[in-house]
Amino acid sequence: MAAERLNDSPAQAGVDDQLRFETLMTELSAKFVSVTSASIDHEIVEAQKDIVRALGLDRSTLVQLRDDERFVATHSWQLPGLQPFPGFAVKDLPWMASAILRGDVVCFSRIDDLPEEAVSERQVARKFGPRSNLTFPLKVGGRVIGAMAFGTVRHQREWPDVVVNRLRVFVEIIGSALARTRAEDEIQRALEEVKRLRDQLQRENMYLQQEIKTVRGCRGLVGESYALRRVLEQVEQVAHTNSSVLLVGETGTGKELIANALHELSPRRDRPMVRLNCAAIPATLIESELFGREKGAYTGALSRQAGRFEVAHRSTLFLDEVGELPLEVQVKLLRALQEKQVERLGSSKSISFDVRIIAATNRDLDKEVRERRFRDDLYYRLNVFPIRMPALRERPEDIPLLVQSFVHEFAKSFCKPIESVDQGSLRALQLYPWPGNIRELRNTVERAMILANGSRLFISPPSDSSNNSAPSLLLSDAERGHLCNVLAMTGWRVRGKDGAAELLGVKPTTLDSMLVRHGIAHGGEQPKSLNPLSDRPLGSGSNSLASISNG
Ligand SMILES: Nc1ncnc2c1ncn2[C@@H]1O[C@H](COP(=O)(O)OP(=O)(O)O)[C@@H](O)[C@H]1O
Ligand SMILES: [Mg+2]
Repeated sequence: MAAERLNDSPAQAGVDDQLRFETLMTELSAKFVSVTSASIDHEIVEAQKDIVRALGLDRSTLVQLRDDERFVATHSWQLPGLQPFPGFAVKDLPWMASAILRGDVVCFSRIDDLPEEAVSERQVARKFGPRSNLTFPLKVGGRVIGAMAFGTVRHQREWPDVVVNRLRVFVEIIGSALARTRAEDEIQRALEEVKRLRDQLQRENMYLQQEIKTVRGCRGLVGESYALRRVLEQVEQVAHTNSSVLLVGETGTGKELIANALHELSPRRDRPMVRLNCAAIPATLIESELFGREKGAYTGALSRQAGRFEVAHRSTLFLDEVGELPLEVQVKLLRALQEKQVERLGSSKSISFDVRIIAATNRDLDKEVRERRFRDDLYYRLNVFPIRMPALRERPEDIPLLVQSFVHEFAKSFCKPIESVDQGSLRALQLYPWPGNIRELRNTVERAMILANGSRLFISPPSDSSNNSAPSLLLSDAERGHLCNVLAMTGWRVRGKDGAAELLGVKPTTLDSMLVRHGIAHGGEQPKSLNPLSDRPLGSGSNSLASISNG
């Protein structure tokens, strides 16, 4: 048996056997210098088998220290019919454990060779083996991480120096191979993380480039009303959590502004908030916008595209106008939210995401649910923390502040030095019901600023008569407006030098008939019926210009 051959001193061993052992050790050492992390576990067990066989042993075990408490057997090979060594707790074999941790080689041929203090070791060895044992500490980067043991269970044997020395070197090589492959694994993991982050950055970047086109100024929230303060309190309460927030309120009440504030106050603020306006995208495309698609997922899908969920990984996804989502997309959205993963259209690979949802709607979702246009299960999932945005007419006390802030903003961009806003205008604005809320107020201020001259600003609320507030595109209306403008410039003088007819390049008689046709009365004043805005408190003669182009 091989065991006998290398049993005693090298002198007794056959030169052939020794040569064979040396050759094996050289081969194994060479193998472990270049072993990869994918194959190292398998190669270690193969090496254990070769060594056990070559030396006529019974088993070999590699144990690794876990939590400083246990040596766990991670690699073992034993002769058929023998139990693998199960590993041990530090407290159960304290003498052995501390010898290993000190970096000592433990070697005994007979259990009685063990020192007196190795009490448990002796007991365990008598009961379960080994009878002879050679254990080397396994070091990675100078630190003991475990041990590699060779032993016999059925017979005793000696451990010649040549064997001990060769095996010690071999175990050192195993240690550095483990260190190297662990480092490779680390690097691989780090590389994958870098790749993942790079992809994420690319997606965010593409998204941001699109966003930049729609310039989103980060305007602050203006207002001091109780209603708005109540909203801000709720924002502060929920911002730092991962809870879904549902913003409900009429159009123009500042839902998007609040969504921004929620994101900016949340721990996710380092990444850009991702938006999707469910009302602005054709129903057929919403799915691929949300979940992404692979090239060729459907006719016309020419390139692959990451969905908003992927882009919003570790950030916030703002689903604006969520009430407009088609029912079939609602189902898929719910599933994505439940499973926290999506599949791109045309792919079966799941992509996990960690996304905080803020949804907004100006619909009464309760009613939508009752009328089965909105899924109740999705509603409950989104409605974890509802915030109701007050309409502007519920907080008219904010109007002066808002006007001031908009005037300030437009004064800068239009380069118009406005010093004050007419008090009467402010009162009128506070009485107006503002169906379009702050957006409408802002537009109204903007229009007044475009038309303003002088340092005092007059603003009229939009006409709430039923006639359309959008400017008419009729040619005849434009003609009438132009006539009025020119008449205003000439102080309603039709004839003579610098009269309206001359400026317009028509005969005075022609102009007369045009004025009749348009029902424009002579006499230096515009008839009221022509101009719904003419009653606002503007002082100078040029006001008619402003009024008309507003009509
Ligand atoms: N409290 C506020 N202070 C200043 N501007 C506001 C405020 N609330 C809304 N706005 C402005 O009103 C407009 C509409 O707001 P937005 O958030 O888009 O409303 P919604 O999403 O509810 O339709 C935006 O120009 C926004 O900047
Ligand atoms: Mg909006």
